[in-house]
Amino acid sequence: MLTIDIITLLPELLLSPFDHSIIKRARQQKLLEINLIDLRLYGIGKHKQLDDYQYGGGAGMVLMVEPIHKCIIDLQSRNNYDAIIYLTPDGKTLNQGTANHLSTHQRIMLLCGHYKGIDHRIREHLVTHEISIGDYVLSGGETAAIVLVDALGRLLPGVLNDESSALSDSFQDNLLAPPVYSRPSEYNGWTVPDVLLSGHDAKIEQWRAEQSLQRTKDLRPDLLED
Ligand code: ADE
Repeated sequence: MLTIDIITLLPELLLSPFDHSIIKRARQQKLLEINLIDLRLYGIGKHKQLDDYQYGGGAGMVLMVEPIHKCIIDLQSRNNYDAIIYLTPDGKTLNQGTANHLSTHQRIMLLCGHYKGIDHRIREHLVTHEISIGDYVLSGGETAAIVLVDALGRLLPGVLNDESSALSDSFQDNLLAPPVYSRPSEYNGWTVPDVLLSGHDAKIEQWRAEQSLQRTKDLRPDLLED
């Protein structure tokens, strides 16, 4: 069972994405729990202020240290966290290895940023991991959190019908997955490779291994260098 607590300015944005398909089933099966925490509840003063100008000047507002700190210590007073993850474009780029590792935890916290980012003291003193989902800038951490939750949820034991199917995903062994085909064997003059119709398991396995390697060489040679 993995519990993911997500601190966000936009809890409504995160309602639907976790209510479909594999992630929905994982939650129904009690293999995954997702809690949305509205940062606004920890805002300062009558207006529940969350952001302010940055010291030193410059465009863009910064999420203030106090509301985030209060939110995190409130959660920590009730739960133990294996990781407190800030989603940010200058974090470590997410890959399958990191997803595999994080999926073995019991409880993690995700912190979604906005505007110019968060007061750096939160990153210095409270955050344990900083993760980016790629070298581009999103308008907030929420869409990155959706990606991370999806990547973790499908790895939890029992979530996928056939447990081996997560293991045969692209990237699990630093190789891209082989091509797949389904019926009919000929459509519009387009055919399926003969070997897949042969019923010869060993040959099929060998073909898939060769295809994986060839596709990785052609499309993502960088994966073979690691
Ligand atoms: N927040 C904004 N851009 C992001 C990115 N690329 N990855 C994670 N969080 C982000």
